[in-house]
Amino acid sequence: MFCKRIVLATMVAAGLTAPLGAQTTLKGAYHDFFRIGAALGPEYFTESDAAGATLVKAQFDSISPENALKWESVHPSPQGFHFGPADSYVEFGVKNHMFVIGHCLVWHSQTPRWVFEDEQGKPLGREELLRRMHDHILAVVGRYRGRVSGWDVVNEALDEDGTLRQSPWLRIIGEDYIAKAFEYAHEADPKAELYYNDYSLENEAKRKGGVELIRKLLAQGVPVTAVGLQGHYALEWPSIEAVDATITAFHALGVKVNITELDVDVLPRVTRTHTADVSSRAESGADSNPYTAGLPAAQQQSLAERYAALFRVFLKHRDAVTRVTLWGVTDRGSWLNNFPARGRTNYPLLFDREGKPKPAFDAVIGEARSR
Ligand code: XIL
Repeated sequence: MFCKRIVLATMVAAGLTAPLGAQTTLKGAYHDFFRIGAALGPEYFTESDAAGATLVKAQFDSISPENALKWESVHPSPQGFHFGPADSYVEFGVKNHMFVIGHCLVWHSQTPRWVFEDEQGKPLGREELLRRMHDHILAVVGRYRGRVSGWDVVNEALDEDGTLRQSPWLRIIGEDYIAKAFEYAHEADPKAELYYNDYSLENEAKRKGGVELIRKLLAQGVPVTAVGLQGHYALEWPSIEAVDATITAFHALGVKVNITELDVDVLPRVTRTHTADVSSRAESGADSNPYTAGLPAAQQQSLAERYAALFRVFLKHRDAVTRVTLWGVTDRGSWLNNFPARGRTNYPLLFDREGKPKPAFDAVIGEARSR
């Protein structure tokens, strides 16, 4: 690292490095530390947005599918699978030598109701639901074996208080649905990395529950490679100390930690607490959408400082953190324009609505360079 710094300083002195901007890339700056990913919608992986696809190829060395591999997308009806968009997502990643993530196998959201019911609409029994879960995981993970490198196997199994969420998976199968999902994924692709993924693990109670859950799974020999901290953050929440402590707590169990869905909400909070539960809905009044004409310089600066502080802590834990993925590419396409309230103008990512790097991008690059 010392050596790298001297080389860089010499290059800067000789005018050999490009100014921050066009030539500078996230994946280049972080190459020695961890992978940098982005979640993609179809416009990127089908390349219908050619400039967007070019930006993704230049900047990121890992990709996640924003929706294309969720149960409702790949397996919308009991009659069968619909793999078209997922195939083109995986193809895009493989062609561009990216670390391709699968998201996600077992979740309570974006999973059709039929999954949990028999033909008469009555709740399934444990064995029948386990069989469905097995069939789904073997079909989806098996199809992309050797091409998708890591899977979010179970997404959001915990409630805010750290107990298991009362989802249909838990109600019908019981607590071991989580272990079973990992076993099936491992059976389908023994070489794939397998993740437990959740939001708000930075909050004390949920973190405690998460640590307990992962500790138990590991003790039973369940093949968990890493914990994914979704990283749906705000300017003031969570504290950097909480992020730091959360990475430390999970790494101490012997798993890696990935930041899997990073974004920073800059708009006024419209829900009672910070949440990334996609079923949360809120109304927005005029005062909750204050930046429709652009993000003022002061907020732009706060966002850049927030990103710098977050990447400082990720870099501090570079022995634990193997990937940091942003949940989207540009502010224009971010899900936070419509969550938890619809139709707002948010600025949560590193590229602006035109795909230009923001001050937050420079701040993130700056953190890597100062190592
Ligand atoms: C979001 C997508 O970004 C939206 O397009 C979709 O309408 C809802 O889901 N946690 C997750 C992601 O694990 O799958 C969610 O993605 C964001 C919260």
